[in-house]
Amino acid sequence: MQNIDWGNLPFGYFQTDYNVRCYYRNGQWGEVEVSSSPQISIHMAATCLHYGQEAFEGMKAYRGKDNKVRLFRWDENAKRMQRSADGILMARPPEQLFHEMVSKAVSLNKDYVPPFGHGAALYIRPLLIGTGVQVGVNPAKEYMFLVFVTPVGPYFKEGFNPVSIQIASDFDRAAPQGTGSIKVGGNYAGSLKPTERAKAEGYAAVLFLDAKENKYIDEAGPANFFGIKNNSYITPKSTSILPSITNKSIMQLAEDQGMTVEQRKVPIEELETFEEVGACGTAAIITPIRKITDRKTGKTYEYCKDGKAGPVSTKLYKKLQGIQYGDEPDTHGWVSFVQ
Ligand code: PLP
Ligand code: COI
Repeated sequence: MQNIDWGNLPFGYFQTDYNVRCYYRNGQWGEVEVSSSPQISIHMAATCLHYGQEAFEGMKAYRGKDNKVRLFRWDENAKRMQRSADGILMARPPEQLFHEMVSKAVSLNKDYVPPFGHGAALYIRPLLIGTGVQVGVNPAKEYMFLVFVTPVGPYFKEGFNPVSIQIASDFDRAAPQGTGSIKVGGNYAGSLKPTERAKAEGYAAVLFLDAKENKYIDEAGPANFFGIKNNSYITPKSTSILPSITNKSIMQLAEDQGMTVEQRKVPIEELETFEEVGACGTAAIITPIRKITDRKTGKTYEYCKDGKAGPVSTKLYKKLQGIQYGDEPDTHGWVSFVQ
């Protein structure tokens, strides 16, 4: 085990020992290669650099009390990476290749999977890039698929403590018929400017509205949004948000505990009626939200009046993390082990 201050890990890059790579050339995927260098060498006219042929995934490996290392729903990440590849005409990594590379990257860096009890995990970043040369706007003929890992703490420094977020209706994250529902770099480029502004103004993230009508809640920064009222779990339905695997899992857990689940348009005015609201994702886990301010109107919605996460969010958080770390029975078959 590495000598790292596991309890104070930021969500950031930390050098580990190995990464795993595979190249797509002449219409097929080659052999899996292991590298100890964090550098890659690519052609200056590679399509990932010019035309955004780039997609990534985000998942975590969790070390349980039993010292076993678990992956959570890796097959969902593999499928989403394939959808992202299809969406911008890149070669699809087969599911088994995805699994082999993710498992190998975790296994080779096992000493960096944080010990149980610190709320930390090994973040896994599969990355697919167009490496083939094009100057005209065309898809590449060659691709590189790479998996690196880095130990992390929660995405928001507040951890499971409530954060403030800002509605920024003067920016759109993604268009309704665009690439918002796949995990491609361009979506994140578009979010940088409003996010940096929100941070400078004291908020942890931006709550984006739908780009067409500017009326409905879309994406909560690098996470999905949810609201809770009258024993219902409500989360936006939109063609421009990323279908979150965490959110999909929480919807199931909410249903398991007798809640009604509604996936539908959520108008801004409805924010007034929620008992609890939060953001969810692999990196964000469940992050409770205590305040939402609409930058344009100045209107503020407040939650967690006692400064703490609400009871429903807390219960869902414990259940989800319980399954991920192996403390709760895995009744849905979401967990697999890395040797
Ligand atoms: N939305 C965005 C924009 C994201 O980047 C992420 C992170 O992957 C999520 C939502 C949450 O998705 P998941 O729960 O699959 O990590
Ligand atoms: C994740 O939740 O895994 C993400 O990818 C969010 C962010 C770091 C882009």
